[in-house]
Amino acid sequence: MGMKKHNIVLIGFMGSGKTSNGIALSYKKKIPFVDTDHLIEQAEKRPITEIFATDGEECFRKAETACLTRLLENTDKTIISVGGGTPVRAENRPLLKQLGCVVYLRVKPETVIKRLKGDTTRPLLQGDNPEETVRRLMEAREEAYADSADVILDMDDYRNRDGVEAIVKAVKDFENREEKP
Ligand code: S3P
Repeated sequence: MGMKKHNIVLIGFMGSGKTSNGIALSYKKKIPFVDTDHLIEQAEKRPITEIFATDGEECFRKAETACLTRLLENTDKTIISVGGGTPVRAENRPLLKQLGCVVYLRVKPETVIKRLKGDTTRPLLQGDNPEETVRRLMEAREEAYADSADVILDMDDYRNRDGVEAIVKAVKDFENREEKP
């Protein structure tokens, strides 16, 4: 594996705050923000719900991997938020690592359930029992998130600016460790 690029990559479950913290972080550090879900919607010219409904999850997962590959070619010094399922595909993990410092925003199922009540934009949570789905998926994914991460941050208790500060500090600590091994 070559040198890491200098992006900050936010991973974590749906509703863990990847987008909101990513945007705030982008303002604070004065570097751009991109969100792979949004890039995929732009490339496909249709919303994620429609990709899932028409072509299935596998089609979306392929688009995710293609999106990471493109980012490796054309993006640096950017805050990158990826979809909640991105680290689950084994082939995505080395791509995430190469993109930069991977920060896992870890939250409890209760936090996600509270935040995403009534959400209609996540195809995976539209079944009869979204609470059960959150718990099951989160447990199934925990190892993939932890394996992908350079830094793990528990985000349940942070509000707004505090969370952003915590991310900035964690990334700095990580970069210092990387520089002086
Ligand atoms: C997904 C998370 C979503 C989106 C898609 C699938 C997942 O992104 O990529 O609905 O598998 O967890 P967010 O984590 O930004 O909600």
